[in-house]
Amino acid sequence: MAAYETTVHDYDVVVVGAGGAGLRATLGMAEQGLRTACVTKVFPTRSHTVAAQGGIAASLSNMGPDSWQWHMYDTVKGSDWLGDTDAMEYLAREAPKAVYELEHYGVPFSRTEDGRIYQRPFGGHTTEYGEGPPVQRTCAAADRTGHAILHTLYGQSLKNNAEFFIEYFALDLIITDGRCTGVVCWKLDDGTMHVFNAKMVVLATGGYGRAYFSATSAHTCTGDGGGMVARAGLPLQDMEFVQFHPTGIYGSGCLITEGARGEGGYLTNSEGERFMERYAPTYKDLASRDVVSRCMTMEIREGRGVGPDKDHIFLNLMHLPPETLDLRLPGISESAKIFAGVDLTRAPIPVLPTVHYNMGGIPTNYWGEVLAPTEENPDAIFPGLMAVGEAGCASVHGANRLGSNSLIDLVVFGRAAAIRAGEVVDRAGAVPATNKPEVDRALDRFDGLRHAKGTMSTAELRDQMQRTMQLDAAVFRTDKTLAEGVVKMEGIAGKVDDIKVTDRGLIWNTDLMETLELTNLMPNALTTIVAAEARKESRGAHAHEDYPERDDANWRKHSLAWVDGNKVKLAYRPVHLEPLTTAEEGGIDLQKIAPKKRVY
Ligand code: FUM
Repeated sequence: MAAYETTVHDYDVVVVGAGGAGLRATLGMAEQGLRTACVTKVFPTRSHTVAAQGGIAASLSNMGPDSWQWHMYDTVKGSDWLGDTDAMEYLAREAPKAVYELEHYGVPFSRTEDGRIYQRPFGGHTTEYGEGPPVQRTCAAADRTGHAILHTLYGQSLKNNAEFFIEYFALDLIITDGRCTGVVCWKLDDGTMHVFNAKMVVLATGGYGRAYFSATSAHTCTGDGGGMVARAGLPLQDMEFVQFHPTGIYGSGCLITEGARGEGGYLTNSEGERFMERYAPTYKDLASRDVVSRCMTMEIREGRGVGPDKDHIFLNLMHLPPETLDLRLPGISESAKIFAGVDLTRAPIPVLPTVHYNMGGIPTNYWGEVLAPTEENPDAIFPGLMAVGEAGCASVHGANRLGSNSLIDLVVFGRAAAIRAGEVVDRAGAVPATNKPEVDRALDRFDGLRHAKGTMSTAELRDQMQRTMQLDAAVFRTDKTLAEGVVKMEGIAGKVDDIKVTDRGLIWNTDLMETLELTNLMPNALTTIVAAEARKESRGAHAHEDYPERDDANWRKHSLAWVDGNKVKLAYRPVHLEPLTTAEEGGIDLQKIAPKKRVY
């Protein structure tokens, strides 16, 4: 057994991760007087939310008519009818409140002439239940909205006495008699081990974009929460749905916000044609992301890509007034210069659909409580554990997320988790005692990896995983690519046992850290490709060439994936069709959100 001394910390709540969702949850918990620790592997304001550019969706109606019902309709349609109705209603209804709270906390939103929060158009956001013109619903702080939100929430959390444990890496959950009672962490700068016992653990660890070769996600997006949950024997949900953002910079994958098209930018092919007019005559370049990414891929496949290899597309912004670029899009002017060598006032930006977001994740209800579904009870709650943000799957994004619905998801569900914790955490009760066998199990696993003496380097194995996912679980999928991908990924996941770690040190050991991260990425990648192979239809981001139509009769259901070594077991749970409120109570008319063909 590994011999590590541990320092024990006791809290009401431990939040793992300090991005938008983690900080909003931390702040909400601390505001209520719950003793709250936030454990994070990077400095809070370096969390990936900092890279969110275009904005946060809420029906404020600052730029024209809007309503939460229209926002909900767009979210339902965007999800390709896979989202849970109760969760999508909660998101759209609570969004304005959550944004005004951010404003009052101090987020420096861009302003209209008359001083209200500025809102811009984004893909898939419409008026009149998809019958009217695009709506300006996306609240923006120039093109640095995530940055502004993150700094504000961190400041507010400190003000409310939340305690931060920065550059602590969460190794594993502690499970005691069927409930989560804490998390074991490695402190990176001095190599010490820490046990956090808590009445509630909240996973806010972000997505797993780095399971792919090219992603807009930071290198820290390694699905750590999903990895810990899979090791705890709990399922992951809807993992087959991976979003490709239409405008990653060709080569680097760096994001150019959809706000660029919201402000009037457009895509062209090698013939200079604005091809989106052909595919989506009404909303054109502002169709939903999955649609735009597919159209770009089809243009390239049909020989109309740009560049020497005809393998990308142009994003044109040259015609935009300089004041729009200066005021609304200052950040992307810089990104285009640095990452594409392009002065966007003179030349188009070369772009390519790039992995951007994971719709799937740890299944939760709309309060963020983690589910441990059984056949008898698909909504059974796993006590002591919550998941919010991209790590979780509430499910509001279903098969495809609308742009700017991510930031609002972070704050609405971070806030919801805090509200729920305020109700269910027993403040007077004792913090669970340290579960020594569970702590030893986590430390033994850590020690095993630290001393791993196999033949394959972490970098080599990660490269194999990323290239396989990029090739075989791409924008378009076929039975053949997916079946081959499953076999390859099972082989790759099996090689984790043959890994070689060269640095045995405990302090700032990047080799070991990347190995631990790889063991988190692996179950995320494996469940993605296995669930994709099983789903015999096309829906949202899952575009299956052998089954080009959506099949509601057989496939309007959430996938659940349990990992055992390099194998995955699948099951399904029903989509929630019931709203929170009826039309008579002021809710949405269910006729409006009945499934239909998804055209933009
Ligand atoms: O394009 C963007 O600014 C990204 C926004 C989002 O993913 O929500």
